[in-house]
Amino acid sequence: MLQDKIAQYSDEIHAFSAGTADELEQFRIRFLGTKGIIKDLFEEFKTVSAEEKRVLGKVLNEFKKLAEEKYNQLKDSLSNTGSSRQTHGDLTLPGNGLELGARHPLVMVRTEIIEIFKKLGFNVAEGPEIEDDWHNFSALNFPEEHPARDMQDTFFISLSKGEGDQGSESVALRTHTSSVQVRMMEQGKPPFRAIMPGRVYRNEAISARAHCFFHQVEGLYVDENVSFADLKQTLFYFVQELFGEDTKVRFRPSYFPFTEPSAEMDISCTICKGAGCQMCKHSGWVEILGCGMVDPNVLENCGIDSKKYTGFAFGMGIERITNLKYEIRDLRMFSENDIRFLKQFKTELI
Ligand code: DAH
Repeated sequence: MLQDKIAQYSDEIHAFSAGTADELEQFRIRFLGTKGIIKDLFEEFKTVSAEEKRVLGKVLNEFKKLAEEKYNQLKDSLSNTGSSRQTHGDLTLPGNGLELGARHPLVMVRTEIIEIFKKLGFNVAEGPEIEDDWHNFSALNFPEEHPARDMQDTFFISLSKGEGDQGSESVALRTHTSSVQVRMMEQGKPPFRAIMPGRVYRNEAISARAHCFFHQVEGLYVDENVSFADLKQTLFYFVQELFGEDTKVRFRPSYFPFTEPSAEMDISCTICKGAGCQMCKHSGWVEILGCGMVDPNVLENCGIDSKKYTGFAFGMGIERITNLKYEIRDLRMFSENDIRFLKQFKTELI
């Protein structure tokens, strides 16, 4: 019966809601379209008796109004929230492109350093960032009262062994990657030829020139008859590979507890080529690493016979090398993850 159908469709319209413009358009076609339900109902209306027409005419007109009103109301609310666009969008528009990330310059430089030393037969080793006093200091021949053990430089961590314990055993965030040398020599047998990249921590106020964490690469070469000449030639080769053949090196005597003799190595300033600039403080030279012959005490501390074996070691900061390669003046840029900064460093390395 016509009246029953109208009642059923009315219920359907009351219950209907459209989440998208497509759903609403389906609704319009179904009820209000030229081949829609309302059209059909009016056709059917023509076939009923004159008596019924009097009642049903009104009902049918109201039903049509209901459908139209529902349609207009849903149309308004969809265009107000714009949700139709958000849900499905305009499918004819091109898609959103995939944003490519960028390699971090420190990772690129670390990889370059590793590749150069690999050619000389160096392996890569790593060690923990949380270290004990032995590996970070004592085994490396740091005297008990050495200032580097001071709270000023080192982040100490108290390990409490449970309730009531005040943290009797103290460990620290390693202050240098030299701790990995110790672990390596303790665990293996000479010869050793390895480089050890990693993050290190120091209790410094953060500024353009200092940060509380940075990255180093440590190098160690221990075998019979290793001499200071081997050290010089290895580092000279490294510098020429990394910065180019016209880069000069010079060694200055220095002091580290774990090497004897010790030196610092400068290279001719890669930015002004020795003419003098801010980077080299107008000296034409920039220090890039510390190095020396492994102190016999360190070898013995790690169970290695210092009468039979000698070795050299060196340690450099990856940030410093990256600054020299790319003229970055503010260390904080390295840890801000600003994609505009990171995208400037193009590389063929994948
Ligand atoms: N550990 C030193 C530092 O953090 C760098 C260093 C100097 C490492 C001389 C060495 C070395 O292996 O022989 O400043």
